[in-house]
Amino acid sequence: MNKEQTAKDAIVARHPRSPEALLSLLHDLQTANARNHLTADDLTLAASHVGVPLSVVRDAATFYSMFSLVPRGQHIIRLCESPNCHLAGAWSALDELRRLLGVEVGETTADGLFTLELTSCLGACGVAPVMMIDDEVVGNLTPERVRGALARYRRGR
Ligand code: FES
Repeated sequence: MNKEQTAKDAIVARHPRSPEALLSLLHDLQTANARNHLTADDLTLAASHVGVPLSVVRDAATFYSMFSLVPRGQHIIRLCESPNCHLAGAWSALDELRRLLGVEVGETTADGLFTLELTSCLGACGVAPVMMIDDEVVGNLTPERVRGALARYRRGR
């Protein structure tokens, strides 16, 4: 058994054998992959563990924007495009992200470090405009704050 499979088995073992555990299990399996995506083997493993058909797992993996079936960057940047953030200036932040990363929405940087995505409300409207980098909320975005956050992740946080 290879090292990656052992790690995946350990992740699976931490989750109950119940359909309610599906999203949490998919999240952890995806995070364990260097390219932030779910492989076909991950879906099969999840279906078998929580006891639902593979089609149900595939539907969940394609419905929720936090999951991807294609390889992405090491860090996922999700900029909120909902009205509060839009009115607060999210598009200035988006312009800066596109400029600094050299990619459009949905693309991954050439060095494989970042993928840029848009998302609906992140529940942090009080500090709009907002983006998430992986699990970190970065609010009150200005072009300067965008530059600072990217620099931090490029240095390894
Ligand atoms: Fe952007 Fe709520 S509208 S976090």
